[in-house]
Amino acid sequence: MAVLTAREVAYAYQTRYQTVQAVAGVSAEFEQGLVYAITGPSGSGKTTFLSLLAGLDVPNAGVIEYGGKSMASLDRDLYRLDHVSVIYQSYNLFYHLTVLENAAYPLYLRKTPRQEADAAAREQLQAIGLQESQFRRLPNTLSGGEQQRVAIARALTAGSEIVLADEPTGNLDSTNTENIMDILRTLAHDKGRCVIIVTHDPYVAERADVVLRMRDGALSSVERRDKEQ
Ligand SMILES: Nc1ncnc2c1ncn2[C@@H]1O[C@H](COP(=O)(O)OP(=O)(O)OP(=O)(O)O)[C@@H](O)[C@H]1O
Ligand SMILES: [Mg+2]
Repeated sequence: MAVLTAREVAYAYQTRYQTVQAVAGVSAEFEQGLVYAITGPSGSGKTTFLSLLAGLDVPNAGVIEYGGKSMASLDRDLYRLDHVSVIYQSYNLFYHLTVLENAAYPLYLRKTPRQEADAAAREQLQAIGLQESQFRRLPNTLSGGEQQRVAIARALTAGSEIVLADEPTGNLDSTNTENIMDILRTLAHDKGRCVIIVTHDPYVAERADVVLRMRDGALSSVERRDKEQ
């Protein structure tokens, strides 16, 4: 069964002078155990659609369902805390906290004992290729690509069943991109998570199990690939 379902979802931004129809009637199903890539031109509604799936925004029309229940009937704060992790296009790190504290933050929120939380964060940071010597530094002393990887580690420390990532490899070289894709694919295929990645990178889309293409706020195609690549 799909863990997340979008049914005819639409979202418009109201600005002072105009209405921008960012998402216009998107229907899609997302299952556990698969990696999804959402691609499409700049401005086609990818980030907006992701924020609806994340429960950060509420659709103007249509419904998002989590586990078969309409998001409108769920506590969205609890949904975000317990079930979904988001890797933002602009990282959204906490700049007054160290790298380690950033990565451990989702577990602090869940009241996990500090030592246990820090140990889990350390493991994720090492897996994404950061060095122990960087763990006590503040994020703004790291390169863009290193900050991006801290954001990825933070999302993965949470251990959520749904991982939503907006351009997670936008600032990474090919070696790091390959490593991140290996990690995200393992999460989906071995741990049964649902991973949804917005990306412009053809390599990332190539390594996804399902590729959804958006154009002008709508889905223009959905392509399912062979899982064994
Ligand atoms: N806060 C906002 N207020 C008004 N319009 C917005 C706002 N955010 C996005 N939009 C508009 O909504 C549409 C979809 O934007 P969105 O950010 O979802 O696109 P995207 O596919 O993620 O693009 P990119 O690849 O450049 O990140 C665009 O036309 C954009 O200008
Ligand atoms: Mg975007």
